[in-house]
Amino acid sequence: MNIQKLEAWYVKNHRKLSFRESNRPYDIWVSEVMLQQTQVETVLPFFERFMKKYPTVIELADAKEERLQKDVEGLGYYRRFRNMHLAAKMIKDEYDGKFPSTYEEVIKLPGIGKYTAGAIMSIAYQKPYSALDGNVIRVLSRYLGNDKDMRIERNKKELDQINQSYIEQANPNVYTQAMMELGALVCRPKNTKCEICPLNEHCFAYQNDLVDAYPVLSKLNDKKEFHYITLLIHNEHGLFLRKRDEELLKGMYEYPQFESESINTVMDMLEDRGVILDVFYKHDKTYKHVFTHQVWYMDVYEAKLVSGKLKEWVCVDAHQFKQLPMAIAHRKIKK
Ligand code: ADE
Repeated sequence: MNIQKLEAWYVKNHRKLSFRESNRPYDIWVSEVMLQQTQVETVLPFFERFMKKYPTVIELADAKEERLQKDVEGLGYYRRFRNMHLAAKMIKDEYDGKFPSTYEEVIKLPGIGKYTAGAIMSIAYQKPYSALDGNVIRVLSRYLGNDKDMRIERNKKELDQINQSYIEQANPNVYTQAMMELGALVCRPKNTKCEICPLNEHCFAYQNDLVDAYPVLSKLNDKKEFHYITLLIHNEHGLFLRKRDEELLKGMYEYPQFESESINTVMDMLEDRGVILDVFYKHDKTYKHVFTHQVWYMDVYEAKLVSGKLKEWVCVDAHQFKQLPMAIAHRKIKK
């Protein structure tokens, strides 16, 4: 691979993004965690607010769990931020607040896998460690003409080893970011810009007019569908919410909801548990929310609480309602 040409392309053409203004490992870590599942444009305002509020790992370690959840509300995949919080506490306690500087220490932190560790080591510490994300998989599988299924771990590992051999001949900081930037701006999933690509001369896919054939990714399993009756219950003090304990969206608040397609069944079940509702309004539309492995369909009813309540329900006023971290699946339900 013509690494010099790739690096020169990056130096000249990369986007000036706020998370690129610093090479502190803490900043690189936060931005890479946010960027792992979320697009750059979405991440930028979150990243900038986050860095003002949590300028070092100490402020992050000392953050209140719910406050932190609220600050990342809207980014999705919230487990990454619970892990980030745990890792910050570990860095504060075990490394005196100083971000560890060896790969072996970094990869032991909660939520940091091979990709994030490679990104931190190469971008912040200038050490040659491969960081293979979706962008890099696309670039390399096209460049090499590797037509193996990249959902399979051992096939990714093969690319990772090749990426490792390249970064060992490169400037690690520039190389890692150049591969990602090339994937974002030029070697895109669709509308590729092969004519301006610094690697086009030796790119197998481009030279053989096969760019759209790579990367090979087998179809994911179908998503599991859930149908809920979702209840906006209020009394004179406010609205009733439940704090989630399930792995999906753990710790976030939601409207009480029940897996059922019938409001009558739900009301009967609640009556058996001592709860009487006065249901007075049904929303016209069925709300839909798509997660990675699930789809929720929600029929939404508004109700007054006449008597009783379930012990997991908490009553919140309008101010608290705004402050609490809430699943976007429910935040987007408008009263
Ligand atoms: N996606 C993940 N990490 C990135 C980075 N450092 N620059 C651009 N896009 C990214």
